[in-house]
Amino acid sequence: LTGPLEDRFGRVASDLRISLTDRCNLRCQYCMPAEGLDWLPNDRVLSKDEIVRLARIGIETLGVEEIRFTGGEPLLRRDLAQILAEIRAFAPQVPLSITTNGMGLDKKADELVAAGLTRINVSLDSICPETFAELTRRDRLKDVLRGVDYAAQAGLKPIKINAVLMPGVNDHQAPDLLAWAMEHDYQLRFIEQMPLDADNRWSRESTITAAQIRDLLSEKYTLHQEPGPRGSAPAEIWDVYPRNTKEFSAENKLGTVGIIASVTEPFCSTCTRTRLTADGKIRSCLFSQTETDLMDLLRSDASDEQVAIRWREAMWAKPAAHGKDSVGFDTEDFAEASRSMSAIGG
Ligand code: GTP
Ligand code: 5AD
Ligand code: SF4
Repeated sequence: LTGPLEDRFGRVASDLRISLTDRCNLRCQYCMPAEGLDWLPNDRVLSKDEIVRLARIGIETLGVEEIRFTGGEPLLRRDLAQILAEIRAFAPQVPLSITTNGMGLDKKADELVAAGLTRINVSLDSICPETFAELTRRDRLKDVLRGVDYAAQAGLKPIKINAVLMPGVNDHQAPDLLAWAMEHDYQLRFIEQMPLDADNRWSRESTITAAQIRDLLSEKYTLHQEPGPRGSAPAEIWDVYPRNTKEFSAENKLGTVGIIASVTEPFCSTCTRTRLTADGKIRSCLFSQTETDLMDLLRSDASDEQVAIRWREAMWAKPAAHGKDSVGFDTEDFAEASRSMSAIGG
């Protein structure tokens, strides 16, 4: 009855994402409304012991091979280092990572690395203070830059930077952001905005597409890709050369850039993810219309095996793509996800 988390389409979810909190100290326009959301009461959020138990069940009986902690903002969890250390103690080889906005990392990076953190991805959409403040509705760019810097010094490598472009806000700054990332040896990835904003303002027309991103970058750079098969990772990686380069050689390569084209080139057929929300529900897909509760099992005297069985059943029912059994955000039956990004964890 146990074994890997397979679904009806032959996909195997070995990559677990756990949201540690729905709260955040920024208010990115594409993610959260200015006034925040109705936060979960503390007693409905997974406790440290519940998270560690779920991680153990995932790793030991369901074939989970790596865990990423998300939020809201995962650094807001005061027990993050403890959670990492307790999982690290029984899973010495499993990569443990976080996706964070970087605020407060300067004070926590060393402790988190000592506790077993292997990697971080930082959400950062602009290195212009005014644009950052407009996009996140908080004037905190300095704190984020300091956080990323300390994380690098603490030995976290590679550091990936996630950037969402919004038209008329930060899209024209894409080449500057790339220049900054390459200079610091961070791996920048541009992400197409998905319909996961809490305000439901997303539209296909306002999404800066992968093709537009390549166009924006061509003002300063030439992007080049060696021919060959594409892996299953969401990001498509391009080599970056100076503008007007004719010769693509190691000597004149400046770095790389990733583009995550979730909207225009969905990668659902190779998805390897299973998600847990901060209140202990399984989401088989970012866009699921239904969730499966594990919290009630955790807070009764259910066995690990009962938890594992329910988890497997939920993943077996994973929809083919984008929350339904047909692909695409622009088909008529598409419905927004039942929660916004900050409540799912990306
Ligand atoms: P690594 O590449 O292993 O570092 O992690 P990651 O890219 O999976 O994690 P991250 O939290 O940095 O996510 C980056 C972006 O990938 C998210 O903002 C999403 O836009 C996109 N993404 C992650 N998972 C999914 C998914 O299941 N479906 C879709 N459509 N997009 C996803
Ligand atoms: N579309 C795409 N990516 C988003 N993120 C947050 N909201 C959205 C959205 N609507 C990204 C953040 C973070 C990652 C987990 O999700 O930039 O890096
Ligand atoms: Fe917070 Fe991340 Fe959402 Fe921005 S994208 S509001 S940093 S959870």
